[in-house]
Amino acid sequence: MTALLEVEGLVKHFVAARSVFGRPTAHVKAVDGVSFTVEAGKTLALVGESGCGKSTVSRLVLRLIEPDAGSIRFEGRDLGTLDANALRAFRRDAQIIFQDPYASLNPRMTVSQILTEPLALHDLVPSSRRRERVEELLRLVGLEPRFARRYPHEFSGGQRQRIAIARALAVEPKLIICDEPVSALDVSIRSQILNLLRDLQDRLGLAYIFVSHDLAVVKHIADRVAVMNLGTIVETADAQALFAVPKHPYSRALLSAIPVPKPKAKRSRIVLQGEMPSALNPPPGCRFHTRCPYVIERCRAEEPQLLSDGTGHATACHRTAELPAPEAIIPLDGGFSPTLEKLVAAFSGGTEGAGLAGVDIIKARPAAL
Ligand SMILES: Nc1ncnc2c1ncn2[C@@H]1O[C@H](COP(=O)(O)OP(=O)(O)OP(=O)(O)O)[C@@H](O)[C@H]1O
Ligand code: SF4
Ligand SMILES: [Mg+2]
Repeated sequence: MTALLEVEGLVKHFVAARSVFGRPTAHVKAVDGVSFTVEAGKTLALVGESGCGKSTVSRLVLRLIEPDAGSIRFEGRDLGTLDANALRAFRRDAQIIFQDPYASLNPRMTVSQILTEPLALHDLVPSSRRRERVEELLRLVGLEPRFARRYPHEFSGGQRQRIAIARALAVEPKLIICDEPVSALDVSIRSQILNLLRDLQDRLGLAYIFVSHDLAVVKHIADRVAVMNLGTIVETADAQALFAVPKHPYSRALLSAIPVPKPKAKRSRIVLQGEMPSALNPPPGCRFHTRCPYVIERCRAEEPQLLSDGTGHATACHRTAELPAPEAIIPLDGGFSPTLEKLVAAFSGGTEGAGLAGVDIIKARPAAL
C-alpha cells in the first residue's frame, strides 16, 4: 500500500551571505538529504535540537518553499508536478498548526470569522450552513459554540490552540503538520491538547507530522520517530523501538533528557561535549562527531549512511554494531544500569550551559573510546 506521504532525498540550502556582486558566498544546509514516509492515520515525530531543520522540512512538505532537490509524493502524486488546481486541492489535504496560537490567529477576527474563512476559501459548505459548521468544529475541539463570537485575546493559550486546531480541521485535511504545538503552553495544558490531537486522529483518521525538540512530548503521540541532527536524519524507528532501544548516541542523549516519572528513580542527563556545530558549516564526516564520545578517525572523514537493521529501525552511525547494548543504556523502568553510568560519565564532566533541546552543552574535550 502506498504511504500517504513519501519524502525522498529532500535538500534545502538557504543563502546565508552574498558577495558585493550579489553572488551567494555561504549557504545554510538546513535540510540535507532527508527521506521518510507517513502512513495515513499515523503520527511521525520529527525530533531534534533547535536549528536542525524540522520547520524547514515542514514548510517543504507543505510546498510553502521549494526544495533544491528531492521529491515529495502525497497519495502517490509528485507535488513538484501539480498544476494550480491540484495544488489547491493539496492545500486542503495538508494543514499546519504552529507553536504560538496567538500569533497564528488574526486578532481582529472573531472565532466565527477565523473558522468560516477556510470554509469559504475552499467552497466547502454553503453559506447558509456555515454557522452550524463552525459550531460543530468548536464542539469537536472541546469548546462551546457560544465562543464563536469572541476574539482570540479572550481565550487562554490552550483554548487558542484548540481554535487553531479547529481552523486546520475546517477543510477536512488528511495530514496536519503540528510544529511544536504544545511548546508554548503550560505543562498542565499540554496533555489536554495532546489528548485532543490523539482523539481527533482516532475519530477522523488524520495523519500527523509532529515536530518537537522534546522527546518526552513525542512519546505520548508518535507511532514513528525520526531524530534529526544538522539537516539530516540520524535515526528513525517505530516509537516503541526507539524509546526502548535507541541506537544513535545523539538519540540516547536526547532521551536521557526526559524526566523520570517515578519520584525516587534517578537518571542523570547525558551531557554532550562540545559546541553544537552550525548548519552554516557542518563538520565533515558524521555531523555529530564533534560531540560524540565514541568518535573514531573514520567518523571525521566519512559520512555515515542511514542503514536499516531489517526491522525498519535505521541508524546513521559507523559504530552502531559496536556500541553497548541499547537496552542496557536506557532501561525501560527508568532506572540506571552500570552501562548507562559509564555512558553518562563519558558524556559528562561538568556543565557550563544548557543546550536548546534540554541537552546540556559543555566545552569540547578530546573524545575517544
Ligand atoms: N529563510 C531562511 N533563510 C536563511 N536561513 C534559514 C531560513 N529558514 C531557516 N533557516 C536556517 O535553517 C536552519 C534550520 O532552521 P529550522 O527553522 O528548520 O530549524 P528548527 O529545527 O525548526 O529549529 P527550532 O526548533 O528552533 O524551530 C537554521 O540554521 C535556520 O537558521
Ligand atoms: S560513533 Fe562516529 S558515526 Fe557514530 S555517532 Fe559517533 S561520531 Fe557519528
Ligand atoms: Mg522550528
